[in-house]
Parts: sequence; C-alpha cells; structure tokens
Amino acid sequence: MLWLGLAAWLLQTAANPFPETSASIEAGRRIYVAQCTQCHDAKGKPVVPAEPGATKPADLTRPKDWVHGMSAAAMFETLREGTEEMAGFKGKLRDEEIWRVIIFVRSLWPEDLRRSAPQD
Ligand code: HEC
Repeated sequence: MLWLGLAAWLLQTAANPFPETSASIEAGRRIYVAQCTQCHDAKGKPVVPAEPGATKPADLTRPKDWVHGMSAAAMFETLREGTEEMAGFKGKLRDEEIWRVIIFVRSLWPEDLRRSAPQD
C-alpha cells in the first residue's frame, strides 16, 4: 500500500514525460478521438448531452473555467480519478496514455496559456 501511494504521488508530481512536439500531439489526438469525443468534440468544445438535465461537459479550450485545475498534475488527477460528473480513465487508459492525452488537450488552448502554463 505504501508503495502504491508513493508511486501515485510520484506520478502526480511528475512533469509530463512527453515533449510537446507535433508527433506527440498527434499520438494524444488519436487517444482523445477514441475516448473523449462522445462528450468533448474534436476541437475541445462541449457536446450537448442527449439526456435532459445532464451536466454539460467542460470546454477544453478554456482551462481557466475548469474547477479541478489546469496544471499537468491536476489534469492527470482529473483524468485518472475522474470528477463528480466525469468517470475516471484509470481502468481504460494507461498512465502514459493519459499524459499523451494531456499533451493533445493543451494543444487546444490559446497560445498565451500554452506558453505560460508549466508542464508540471
Ligand atoms: C461521458 C462523457 C465524457 C467523456 C467521455 C469525457 N468527459 Fe471530460 N467532462 C465531462 C463532463 C460532464 C465534464 C464537466 C463536469 C466536471 O468538470 O466534472 C467534463 C470535464 C472535463 C474536464 C474539466 C474538469 C474540471 O476540472 O472542471 C477535462 C479536462 C476533461 N473533461 C477532459 C476529458 C478528456 C481528456 C477526456 C477523454 C480522455 C474526457 N474528458 C472524456 C464528460 C466527459
């Protein structure tokens, strides 16, 4: 248990192991298209839920509006563990795949935010 906790802590505090290159953005995009576009469209905009009253997904191009934080560590936690309204991906995506998706999602942000927000 201690080791698991330590490993989780290391992952959450670690910077993204992948560089922001066009190849890694493309690798992340492929995972995103397979896992996320049911609720966030290909450009990161929310897909309006079919069920009335269902929570509208977040706009991934506006990370300052997110409630759980936009640092890479916060995004990793959001995606791995999920939120009140979005199931986590820990059973579906490996940790490396989550980091790749994060690279893609950052590529949807306005240029100034991409430059100013650290990768860790
Ligand atoms: C079944 C629908 C669904 C899928 C699939 C889904 N999301 Fe979400 N997502 C939501 C909803 C609803 C919210 C808004 C509620 C919330 O923030 O908890 C959200 C919020 C978010 C947020 C913002 C969380 C915050 O801090 O406010 C991020 C980032 C995000 N999603 C990324 C992703 C990524 C990346 C994927 C694919 C790996 C994904 N989502 C797949 C429904 C979904």
